[in-house]
Amino acid sequence: KTNATKSMWHYWPYFAKGVGYTVGISLVAVIIGMLLGALIALIRLGHVKVFKAIFTAYVEFVRGTPLMVQVMFIYFGIGMFYNISAVVAGTLAVGLNSAAYVSEVFRGGIESIAKGQTEAARSLGLSQHDTMRYVVLPQAITSIWPALGNEFISLIKETSIVSIIGVADLIYQLRVVQADTYSGVLPIAIAMVLYFIMTFSLSRLLRHFEKKMHHA
Ligand code: ARG
Repeated sequence: KTNATKSMWHYWPYFAKGVGYTVGISLVAVIIGMLLGALIALIRLGHVKVFKAIFTAYVEFVRGTPLMVQVMFIYFGIGMFYNISAVVAGTLAVGLNSAAYVSEVFRGGIESIAKGQTEAARSLGLSQHDTMRYVVLPQAITSIWPALGNEFISLIKETSIVSIIGVADLIYQLRVVQADTYSGVLPIAIAMVLYFIMTFSLSRLLRHFEKKMHHA
């Protein structure tokens, strides 16, 4: 037992590299997801029927198929035409997946604000933009923020799927260490704890901002 423990310390660069990939992929995917998700929400709240239909279909399709299949599809699909690296494909896939979930968070938050609020603001002479900016969004954010937080935390865990295409993330590294040490469970336990440290720190950070927001 002590031997296995000792050799696990020896493998810390593997775990560190894995955490690096996992955090990096999550960060970039969150940015893609937020930007694209906000755009999709705006389009779906808008009035152009064709675009609404297209992006409603997008959201339904993304939510209705496994992330694992999407990751493989993007990697091998794009790979047919263009030599894309596994990290880029994996990050893109997770980001595109997240956009669907984020757009629902935004749309739900905005739609939860009673229509009378918008009507009142508009009849008081506020422009559509100012109504959104000063009346709807400040209220919507209180339900949007916690839901977005959940999505960020999910993303960290969901990135584990990219190991399927050979991205050197934490799951991939734990397999390497397993193969190298013949130790089955210890690398898993270490990876598990590392995932938890990432998600728990993030959830603390988010809670901090949430409290700040309520006190503002
Ligand atoms: N694991 C599930 C899947 O494979 C859920 C993915 C959730 N994605 C997200 N961005 N929250 O489809």
